[in-house]
Amino acid sequence: MKFKQLLVILVTIPNIAFSQSVTISTPRTELIVNATPGKTLQHVYYGTRLNPSDEKLLTDIDGAKIDRFESQGLMNAYPAYGLDCPNEVAFACKHSDGNMSTDLIVDKVTTSSDVNATLTTISLKDRKYPLIVDVFYKAYSDADVIETWTSISHKEKKPITLTQFSSAFLPIRRGDVWLSSFYGSWANEARLVEEPLTQGEKVIYNRDGIRNSHTAHSEVMFSLDGKPQELNGRVIGAALCYSGNYKLRVETGDTEYHKFFAGINEDFSYYTLMPNETFVTPALALTYSNEGKSGVSRNIHSWARKYKIANGNTERRILLNSWEGVYFDINQEGMDQMMGDIASMGGELFVMDDGWFGDKYPRNIDTSSLGDWVVDSRKLPKGIEGLLADAKKHGIQFGIWIEPEMANTTSELYEKHPDWVIKAPQRDLVLGRGGTQVVLDLSNPEVQDFVFSIVDNLMAKYPEIAYIKWDANMSIMNHGSQYLPSDKQNHLFIEYHRGFSKVCERIRAKYPTLTIQACASGGGRANYGVLPYFDEFWVSDNTDALQRIFMQWGTSMFFPALTMASHISASPNHQTHRLVSLKYRADVAMSGRLGMEIQPKNMTEDEKIFCKKAIADYKRIRPIVQFGNIYRLLSPYDNKGAASLMYVNDEKSKAVFYWWRTETFCNQHMPRVLMAGLNPDRIYTIHELNRIDKQPLSYEGKSFSGKYLMEVGLEIPYTHNTDWPLQSSWSSRILLIE
Ligand code: GLA
Repeated sequence: MKFKQLLVILVTIPNIAFSQSVTISTPRTELIVNATPGKTLQHVYYGTRLNPSDEKLLTDIDGAKIDRFESQGLMNAYPAYGLDCPNEVAFACKHSDGNMSTDLIVDKVTTSSDVNATLTTISLKDRKYPLIVDVFYKAYSDADVIETWTSISHKEKKPITLTQFSSAFLPIRRGDVWLSSFYGSWANEARLVEEPLTQGEKVIYNRDGIRNSHTAHSEVMFSLDGKPQELNGRVIGAALCYSGNYKLRVETGDTEYHKFFAGINEDFSYYTLMPNETFVTPALALTYSNEGKSGVSRNIHSWARKYKIANGNTERRILLNSWEGVYFDINQEGMDQMMGDIASMGGELFVMDDGWFGDKYPRNIDTSSLGDWVVDSRKLPKGIEGLLADAKKHGIQFGIWIEPEMANTTSELYEKHPDWVIKAPQRDLVLGRGGTQVVLDLSNPEVQDFVFSIVDNLMAKYPEIAYIKWDANMSIMNHGSQYLPSDKQNHLFIEYHRGFSKVCERIRAKYPTLTIQACASGGGRANYGVLPYFDEFWVSDNTDALQRIFMQWGTSMFFPALTMASHISASPNHQTHRLVSLKYRADVAMSGRLGMEIQPKNMTEDEKIFCKKAIADYKRIRPIVQFGNIYRLLSPYDNKGAASLMYVNDEKSKAVFYWWRTETFCNQHMPRVLMAGLNPDRIYTIHELNRIDKQPLSYEGKSFSGKYLMEVGLEIPYTHNTDWPLQSSWSSRILLIE
């Protein structure tokens, strides 16, 4: 596995005492810091890769201002609290003698490389205290991403208290800088919001404890040239690779810079660091592109597929998930019927969702049984074996839902181990879903073993299981660990996620190719802290195609299509109750990792035929969608009546273009969408997928140059030319361009 790969050290340059300027570069970007031993570490530059003579001039002019105080023109690259109190800082601690101040200077710089990346470590030490902060920069040789993080350790006589410990700090030159960020809720995740950065402080944070991407995301973009554009302009992208509580801050005060800090959220999590203990912060992945927001997305997507997503180079299967089809109504015949249906439509996998387990307490609704991961033999007399045999009979694979971090108070697990749940001392439990849900305490190694064993037992008994949907449907509501000692209760949020990562590491070490979906009440776990262990995530519990366009648009900013589980569901939709045509539902789902979330028994024969064809076509375009480069063309957030994006393969020989009408009014005038990312000199032929019109498009089968498609574009009819019963207010197109 990529994330387990050890760094092979090819070059080690200890103590570059005379080299003040350190350049950390990727193929097209670079970050320059001034790391003069005995002085503060200074940020000089982040942006496009420069030629050596310009680089030298830049470091001579901008990098020469070495001083502690930014009022004198410098930008400390990892500012600490205490000797410049009014400003925001990346780091603050209380030393063992009570001193609240820290004064970090460069000690040494070391680098090491392997074929994929160069790791630069800049060791900082306090001028007076035995405190070390190592600042790491990992620059990839085949991806324009630099990961940066820190590790903190000390040799003071007694513990010190860390009160602020950002992973990274990046100054961004003021001008007309806009921030793109993502807010939301359950069933409305990843809504894009864009705003100019103004005086004051913008804080984006999460304190859920478990699910960190419902209300906000730990990824942001900074457009440096005014209002964000998709295809032009200088943009910095930043993604905090962490599964737990985070805090991103952008402070705009009386300097020439917006100051961007990102890291673990320290709220209620100040950290007691023992002598010789090392505290490592999660990485912040940085990228820069002068090709607009889509350029940032392409950089991040390609890095993520290579290094940050489990099995990121493997095609995702087309599946049917049982949840919206039958909810808790699981039984052997029903599962067999659904498997038969998805197989007959060309699907490759069936996933049995919630409701299959519980012996003493059957899981018929959400009030019981989490923790009791044994088959309910009343519902499934032939057990998982029977289901696997059915899957085999239908020629598809089988997957299963679990929620391993959780229990219900009505469960055999809770009866046996009430001490395993997260609970505040002296307090009654605050309960979650179903009025009985509780969170298991992953800071406890015994609980970690138990959670690991849920997957391990399933896989040992049923090695043919090909897919796990790993859910997590509760926040940490009760601050208290029955495992951590009283003087470490403040570590709960951090220890939970350390425990979670340990379990995931163990699972991945043993089951590297098992497909695992991160679901957390829908899109609560879309982040690069979990994706090294998970193949994909459930974008949202909301499967309404129209709303999905908005959510998937936001999600696509940082996450490639192969991670975005996107399912065709019933109409009326179960969340919004909107009636949406099947074509439109399919056209939206086919822009992500296609699946179905429906009872096929309730579909008409024509609908099944349509889906069978759509699935066959998706198989054709799957490599382009799942491994291609994204170009977002017309944003649904711009209210132009439609939205459009496309994926282009690396060779620029094939592309898939999507266009979805987002509102329907008569005599509405919408823009003609220009394509992007094609080879201007290449000739491409157009073929419409999922066609429902009586006549083909006027350009069906015709060939155009890439230049024409990008500078003139194709006119997309606003409506469909179908027989009256098929007419609806929904209009969308998918074009295969090859
Ligand atoms: C969560 C998930 C759903 C489904 C249910 C099952 O809400 O997001 O997809 O799995 O749990 O209870």
